[in-house]
Order: sequence, then C-alpha cells, then structure tokens
Amino acid sequence: MATAHQPGAGRAAALRSELMAARRMTDELFGVVAPGAIYDRPIPERHRLIFYLGHLEAFDWNLMARRGLGLPPFHPAFDELFAFGIDPGPDALPADVPADWPAREAVEEYNRETRRLLDSGLDAVPEEMLDTAIEHRLMHAETFAYLLHNLPLEGKRPPRPPSVLSAGATPRQEMIRIPAGPATLGLRQGEPFGWDNEFERHEVDVPAFLIGRHKITNGDYLEFVRSGGPVPYYWVKANGDWELRTMFGREPLPLNHPVYVTQQQAESYAAWVGCSIPSEAQWHRAALGTPGGGERKFPWGDEPPGRSRGNFDFHHWDTQPVDATPAGDSAFGVSQMVGNGWEWTATPFGPFPGFRARPYYPAYSAGFFDNAHFVMKGGSPRTAARLLRPSFRNWFRADYPYVYATFRCVRSVD
Ligand code: AVJ
Ligand code: FE
Repeated sequence: MATAHQPGAGRAAALRSELMAARRMTDELFGVVAPGAIYDRPIPERHRLIFYLGHLEAFDWNLMARRGLGLPPFHPAFDELFAFGIDPGPDALPADVPADWPAREAVEEYNRETRRLLDSGLDAVPEEMLDTAIEHRLMHAETFAYLLHNLPLEGKRPPRPPSVLSAGATPRQEMIRIPAGPATLGLRQGEPFGWDNEFERHEVDVPAFLIGRHKITNGDYLEFVRSGGPVPYYWVKANGDWELRTMFGREPLPLNHPVYVTQQQAESYAAWVGCSIPSEAQWHRAALGTPGGGERKFPWGDEPPGRSRGNFDFHHWDTQPVDATPAGDSAFGVSQMVGNGWEWTATPFGPFPGFRARPYYPAYSAGFFDNAHFVMKGGSPRTAARLLRPSFRNWFRADYPYVYATFRCVRSVD
C-alpha cells in the first residue's frame, strides 16, 4: 500500500483508492474468521469480533457522512452501538453476551448501505477526514490481527498455507554508540497528515548513548525465563520445550526472532541484564539520526518502505529473524528499528508541547494520557506502510500482552 502525498486532485484520487485498498484488506481479515466464531471474544479486554465488523463502517459513517457531508442517519442505533471500542484495565472486563449483539446479516447490510451512501459523496469529504478514516481502518487491520491470533485455530481459515518460521541460531548482540545529537519529534502543521498526538513538531537534544544492534530475541529472553523471569504471552510449553504460538499454528521457539513482550517484561529483562529500554527520543536518534547530524525519513534513507527494508505492510503474519533485513539498517547500523515488531519505549504516552485534540475525535489520544500507557515506535509485520512515518506514535498499557511489541537495550556511555 503506497503513501499518498501528491497535491490537489491527484491526492484526492489517491486517497479514494487508498480507502478502497484498506477496505479490501479489512474485508479479507473478516474472511479469516470462521462463520461460527464471529461472536467470540478472543481478547477478554476487547469487544467481541462482531463489534469490529460494524465499527469500521460506523466510524467512517459518523465521521465522513454525518460530520463531513451532513447526511441524515439511516440507522442511528448502529451508529452509536459501533462508534467506539473499549480499553478497560484487567479488573474491569466487559460482561456482555453474544445475544446482546445484532445478527451478522444486519451488520453486513448496515456496512453495504454505509459504503453506498458514502461513496457517492466521497469527493466532497475533507481530505483530513479521509486520511483519518483510512488510518483508523489500517490500525484496526493490525489490532484485528491480535484478535485473530488469539482466536482458537478452529475459529479461523488461513487465507494461504501458513509459512514455516525460518529459525536459526541467535545472532550475537553488540552495542552501537550513538553520538550526542538532535532528534526531531512530531509534525509541523501543514504537513500531509498526522493524528493529534503527532503535533507540535519539536527538537530534543539527545546525549550520547549505546544501543543494541538487534532487537532482543526469543533466545536472549529464554535465558531470563530460565532464571525465573516472566514468560512471554505467546510462548507455550509442550513436552518440556518452549513453543511459539504463531497466527496459524505452533512452532519450536525460533531463537533468532524478536520476542514479543509487555513493556513490564521488557523493563524487567533490561534490569536483569543491567540496561534500560530507550526513551522515545533515543529511538528517534538511533533510528533516524545520521553521523552528520541530519535526520532521515526512514532508518534506511528517504526511499519509501519497500519489502526488502523490513517486515511490515502485511506481507507476513509472524516475525522474521532479527538479522533478516539488512537493507533496513539505520545510518548508525542499528537493525530493524522499523518492522518485525513495534518497539516499547520508556516514555509514557503524553501530549507534545502545543497538543490540541481534534474536535471530531477529542478522546482519540487524550483519553490515554494517564501514565499507564507507553509509547511504541517502529512497526510490526501487520503495520501498514502508511503508518511507518517518523512521527507516528502507537501506545498500549505497560502490561498489555497481546500487542506485537519488541524491545532493545540502551546504556549510557561513561
Ligand atoms: C493507536 C492502536 C492504540 O487500537 O486502541 C482505533 C487505535 N483508536 N480506534 C487502539 C484506535 C480507536 C488505538 N491504538
Ligand atoms: Fe476504532
């Protein structure tokens, strides 16, 4: 999926086709759910799958058709029922039952009607709303993958034969010195599109530090588990050996792949080996900084995110070896800062100086400025290319185990 940054009419046409491509992607994902499983709730803190089937269209309808075009509602009950997802703490789990939700056919009819009415007026929808709808849908393409991952195998139909993970020995970790220099965070008003939490742009001076060349691997983390460390959520023990629960099966733990962990597990591993995890500004500096002091758009340079640069944009369901994509290395030689798993940072998710919530979606970010959610940077195998821009910020609770999130070590230079 390409990024649309053309001006004027070219951009409007590109946005329209991006929305269509994003719809094809999410339609395909719902096709993976076996018919009997659509009322399941694979993640206890999230809604049942049926909610997401209605949510993507309800979001587009409420934003673009109601607010953008001023169209009258044709199904106000669904507009409200499917408007927002949930993010409760582990002690406030939802208690609804399948019978509380409408029939699948009724939701599908709502979706068809939404697309029909919306598409005939799409040319009059403000670009910022289209960008918002496209990226909202693409983010759900990723979070829906977490739901699918946690759906029992009987509940899903693999779209193609599942790939076997290419496992191997874990590569040697080495620390790379990043000299002191600037990190530019955020976006300037007038740049193509960003969510509220990406503004305003500002520069941070980052002192010199050391950072791990590779993401921490399953093999690295296994030593921590063997000495009593907390077990990653996607690991299972079978006949005395650790296995990895992948999207469509189970495999012997691939020791040279990055480990998916919670932010708390990342912090405790780091403490165990005597390092820390990077701040958001350190991530920027190591990923996008250059020895000359300039900054890049992507770790590898300014070229758009192509397949050889990293594991992102829906080509794979699962991780790859941490040394699989050298063409994506940063100017400092740091590997896989983008792709193959988000990277946890030590930075609580909060507003940049000058933050303003969008009137049409006031709680998008501000509802999570609670010091319980932490910034993640980079991207996972299931992150759309469009969301890989430097300023994009993701966030989850420090103990959220379902997300495709990895980490690496940093140390201060003495
Ligand atoms: C930015 C991925 C944390 O899924 O909770 C989707 C994105 N917000 N619909 C989430 C989102 C509302 C959000 N994350
Ligand atoms: Fe949503």
